[in-house]
Amino acid sequence: MNGGHCPPSFLLASNGTQTLTEKIQIELKNVSHAYVTADGRLPVLKNFSLEVKSGGFTAVVGPSGCGKSTLTRLIAGLIKPDEGEIYLAGERVTSPRPTVGMAFQNPVMLEWRSVIKNVTLPLEIVKPSQPWSKQRERARELLKMVSLEDFEDKRPSELSGGMRQRVSLCRSLVHYPEVLVLDEPFGALDAFTREELWLVMNALRKEVAFTCILITHDLRESVFLSDEVVVLSDRPAETQHVAKIPFGKERKLADLYSPEATQLLAGLRHQIEIAQGRNKEP
Ligand SMILES: Nc1ncnc2c1ncn2[C@@H]1O[C@H](COP(=O)(O)OP(=O)(O)OP(=O)(O)O)[C@@H](O)[C@H]1O
Ligand SMILES: [Mg+2]
Repeated sequence: MNGGHCPPSFLLASNGTQTLTEKIQIELKNVSHAYVTADGRLPVLKNFSLEVKSGGFTAVVGPSGCGKSTLTRLIAGLIKPDEGEIYLAGERVTSPRPTVGMAFQNPVMLEWRSVIKNVTLPLEIVKPSQPWSKQRERARELLKMVSLEDFEDKRPSELSGGMRQRVSLCRSLVHYPEVLVLDEPFGALDAFTREELWLVMNALRKEVAFTCILITHDLRESVFLSDEVVVLSDRPAETQHVAKIPFGKERKLADLYSPEATQLLAGLRHQIEIAQGRNKEP
């Protein structure tokens, strides 16, 4: 069921013929949202639209407090927009979906459970009748991908911050989510661990088909991981700028030091300054 909405699956090619394109997996149409606070209404998103194709990876950057986390909560169905519509794979989002995987800056782990039991948690909700042997097999597969195969019986408190982030990524992917929503998942990490996790993320992306929206403050991270970077204006957030990332799927950290990447990063930095109001030029 798609609630009467049909995601666009055709595009007009330059010669006027219709060509089949990838499905739109995440779609926000004219979304506005305001919080009601003790001081009155606080408009956070205004007439905001966004499309991410199936298998696409969009990074969202913008000034602190502009509404990025609010955007992730809306996509995940944790809160409802005041106006506009949100669709995942053509289905209108009205409540939280098990087909969405989420990871945040400070991963919440259940301390009384082992690492592997933390990873399998979403399966207990999404596939409660699946035998433990199958759930364990899936979790082990992911833990191996992030080099934590020897840590499955540890408690979360026995892990480093980077390891916890890796466990959190495994947990967000364990139930084969169609959509992955990442809100600054590497924000609390040192620069080197963060770069290591970018590589892990790219490797996971090759192995596991998902569509991703990543919120980040790190412009290098946005360029290294995504297909396009959306720069939000200050609150109430609107799309101020979209940068297409011209790099293919095979990416090396050294690519970030290429003249092309340097130019891209300078352009994004300039856009952030505009969003912060330090540079009035549009
Ligand atoms: N539950 C809430 N009730 C009231 N106001 C809220 C609530 N959540 C967020 N806000 C306000 O909405 C605005 C946007 O918050 P949000 O967390 O989406 O920003 P953000 O872009 O993720 O910021 P940061 O980059 O610092 O994480 C902020 O001004 C914040 O104070
Ligand atoms: Mg936030």
